[in-house]
Amino acid sequence: MLIDTYGRIATDLRVSLTDRCNLRCTYCMPEEGLQWLAKPDLLTDDEIVRLIRIAVTDLGVTEVRFTGGEPLLRPGLVGIVERCAALDPRPQMSLTTNGIGLERTAAALRAAGLDRVNVSLDTLRPEVFQTMTRRKRHADVLRGLEAAGAAGLTPVKVNAVLMPGLNDDEAPDLLAWAIAHQYELRFIEQMPLDAQHGWKRDGMITAGDILASLRTRFELTPEGDEARGSAPAERWLVDGGPARVGVIASVTRPFCRACDRTRLTADGQVRTCLFAREESDLRGALRSGAPDAEIARLWRLAMWGKKAGSGLDDPSFLQPDRPMSAIGG
Ligand code: GTP
Ligand code: 5AD
Ligand code: SF4
Repeated sequence: MLIDTYGRIATDLRVSLTDRCNLRCTYCMPEEGLQWLAKPDLLTDDEIVRLIRIAVTDLGVTEVRFTGGEPLLRPGLVGIVERCAALDPRPQMSLTTNGIGLERTAAALRAAGLDRVNVSLDTLRPEVFQTMTRRKRHADVLRGLEAAGAAGLTPVKVNAVLMPGLNDDEAPDLLAWAIAHQYELRFIEQMPLDAQHGWKRDGMITAGDILASLRTRFELTPEGDEARGSAPAERWLVDGGPARVGVIASVTRPFCRACDRTRLTADGQVRTCLFAREESDLRGALRSGAPDAEIARLWRLAMWGKKAGSGLDDPSFLQPDRPMSAIGG
């Protein structure tokens, strides 16, 4: 198993399949994009499947989430899902996507064995979407969401980041819309993981702000810690339920103590945390012919170095070198 020195056991593996993206969300990437990883540096499909196999058969991982950048840009995605679905034990599999192209692939992903998807959508207003993502793709995301529901990739969760002066007045509208479509909406506090290093604590919308805004239109009752488990989202029942809303408050209400995650970047580095400053190279070991047992040993060793928390509250906090899109959100 993957245990750290604080006794936390990582059973949830997040695998970034590419650092590229077809949107340019202002809280994530600059207009010109980033210096993308070169093709030979990316893990191949075979290497990814092998690492996931080691994680589920030797290291106790039970859930695998595919992320990016934008994971639908990875040509081999459906094949990777299909091969992971054949593993024994079969992991739970999910995908975090911006929804563009999901319309075309949702049914194939479901048939390959994907269980569910989380789709990012920050606004219901096409012009605000264009300002926030610098692309005119709002309608594609809505069609992707519909296709995900129709394909049975449920529960479909929607992730929204609120930005001051852009969409921070939209929380109640987003929630009413999500409930009408049976999507589980979660608001995410903006984190200091943007490539431009433009994040400021006093400029972000907090969980407190979000809840106050929602309470102008809805009655919210906390769901409680037991239902939450190790999930980053704290959840509330809306108007007595069964509808729910979540808030992922990484900044103001960190949940590191219950963290059950390990991460793999698209170039084969283990990251123990979104905010980790060190990485451990598995790609080098894979390519030098290391056997499974050695890869598993290196992975265990990496997790032993996992820090207690994100360090966001330390006066000496330094943003990680890699932005969110290169780590896998
Ligand atoms: P579910 O299992 O569907 O609840 O997934 P999730 O919420 O863990 O995953 P998703 O990919 O949808 O991520 C939602 C937000 O949570 C993103 O902004 C992630 O960056 C953030 N997130 C995911 N894992 C972690 C983590 O370990 N620490 C922190 N601080 N944030 C995380
Ligand atoms: N802070 C918070 N959330 C972010 N995301 C991307 N960058 C940031 C950031 N700096 C979100 C995306 C997506 C999820 C994986 O992470 O909007 O929903
Ligand atoms: Fe792409 Fe996600 Fe970054 Fe937006 S937040 S630019 S969708 S990787």
